[in-house]
Amino acid sequence: MITGASAGIGRATALAFARQGAHVAAIARRAERLEALQAEAADAEGEIMPIAADVTRAGEMQQAVAAVMARWGRLDVLVANAGVGHRGAVVDADWADLETVLRTNIDGVLHSIRAAVPAIRSGGRGGHVILISSISAAAPAPYAAVYGASKSFVNGLARALRYELIDDNIWVTTFLVGQTHSEFAQARLGRPGRVAGKLPTMQAETVARRIVWASRRRKRTVVLRLIDRVFILGAALTPGLMDRLQKAIYK
Ligand SMILES: NC(=O)c1ccc[n+]([C@@H]2O[C@H](COP(=O)([O-])OP(=O)(O)OC[C@H]3O[C@@H](n4cnc5c(N)ncnc54)[C@H](OP(=O)(O)O)[C@@H]3O)[C@@H](O)[C@H]2O)c1
Repeated sequence: MITGASAGIGRATALAFARQGAHVAAIARRAERLEALQAEAADAEGEIMPIAADVTRAGEMQQAVAAVMARWGRLDVLVANAGVGHRGAVVDADWADLETVLRTNIDGVLHSIRAAVPAIRSGGRGGHVILISSISAAAPAPYAAVYGASKSFVNGLARALRYELIDDNIWVTTFLVGQTHSEFAQARLGRPGRVAGKLPTMQAETVARRIVWASRRRKRTVVLRLIDRVFILGAALTPGLMDRLQKAIYK
């Protein structure tokens, strides 16, 4: 089950899993996008079931899992990927925008986990919860503070959730994703414009391949690129230098 499957990383991940033979529940609000995705996977070894649902609504996520169980009778992997970005100063930003970021990136992840884990657990075979976070959690950027903090929530949640699920043989992996080509920049709330245009950008398919790879391994955290590791290590080891760099990059 993949949330945020109508665009970008989630869409590429749904296709990658289906091409490996998986049965994929593709979740997002835009039903027509999901139907197009299902058609695109028509000759894949696996299949895609589109489910229109909003991750901010607990009841819709419960219904989505019920639809998966009714169709396939099991759920093995959750990829909690749906998310929205925000740009703007903490003090000046519209509260409605900040609330959307918090409801989607925090509540949405919780609703996805709380709906999916009982179904994974009921199979008795174990499984995997993959949470899509960001390097912004570890290397917070100015004017993306609330977004970065929402991803810090995901990182913190994952660390403790891992202990809660380990006895059920359900593994938790966090992806600290760096800048990736997707619809993220267009969908981002707050001020328009480029945030970090000079940083190298990955293809969504690259992230998707690693998510499929990680779903078969017991990784705690995945950072895809050297440059992202440098950012994360820089923020931890040389915070003063990183502050100056971030201030220069983000305007
Ligand atoms: N792109 C990057 O540079 C980057 C970097 C670091 C981390 N990430 C993270 O990667 C994840 C995927 O982002 P992306 O780059 O693929 O962005 P994207 O192309 O904008 O895709 C976002 C997806 O989330 C879905 N979504 C948003 N709000 C939703 C809601 N309330 N209910 C259900 N689905 C919802 C959207 O579908 P609908 O609008 O159809 O609902 C869409 O499918 C996010 O968590 C993001 O924070 C991205």
